[in-house]
Amino acid sequence: MPHLIKNDIKAKMTFPTLQHMALTDRQIRLVQKSWRLLRDIDPQVVGDLFYSKLFLDHPEVRAMFPKDLKMQHQKLLDMISKVVARLDHLGDMNGEIKEMGKRHEGYGVLPHHYGWVGSALLWTIKNGMNKEWSPELEEAWTVCYTNLVELMLEA
Ligand code: HEM
Repeated sequence: MPHLIKNDIKAKMTFPTLQHMALTDRQIRLVQKSWRLLRDIDPQVVGDLFYSKLFLDHPEVRAMFPKDLKMQHQKLLDMISKVVARLDHLGDMNGEIKEMGKRHEGYGVLPHHYGWVGSALLWTIKNGMNKEWSPELEEAWTVCYTNLVELMLEA
């Protein structure tokens, strides 16, 4: 995709996107540790928190999802777990992530929706982490999510 168009799409994400940055080793460990803590909470509870926040802030996307979100919780959390586990060598998943991005276009997902999902995701992690949350962790998750979305939008 030509560079300019890609930047335009990124601007439309309206997420606090950073210029492309590789995660540092420390950021990788921070993200992995915080995700482990979050996974210890019931996935259903984490999923409920995430989708409630997303749909309260942006009710217009509710209709894109099936009525019963049980499977959706699992799929989203499993995919994030897979990505988080492979942050050291995310390149191995490039093809899989781009394919997922292509499927999302088919679901009617627009670039700015990624910003909404990113905000709801960070909000969920922040609340799940409670006192463990820090500006450093927030930056690490922001870089992680931005890199993931960049790949999905490259499709
Ligand atoms: C990094 C961000 C995201 C991740 C990791 C993610 C992950 C997933 C996964 C794993 C699935 C299962 C099906 C598949 O693999 O194609 C899925 C489905 C779906 N996602 Fe996402 N997603 C993301 C962003 C979004 C955004 C921004 C939206 C729009 C609000 C969205 C809406 C949907 C919808 C509508 C489905 C299909 C539901 C169904 O009909 O079963 N996703 N997502």
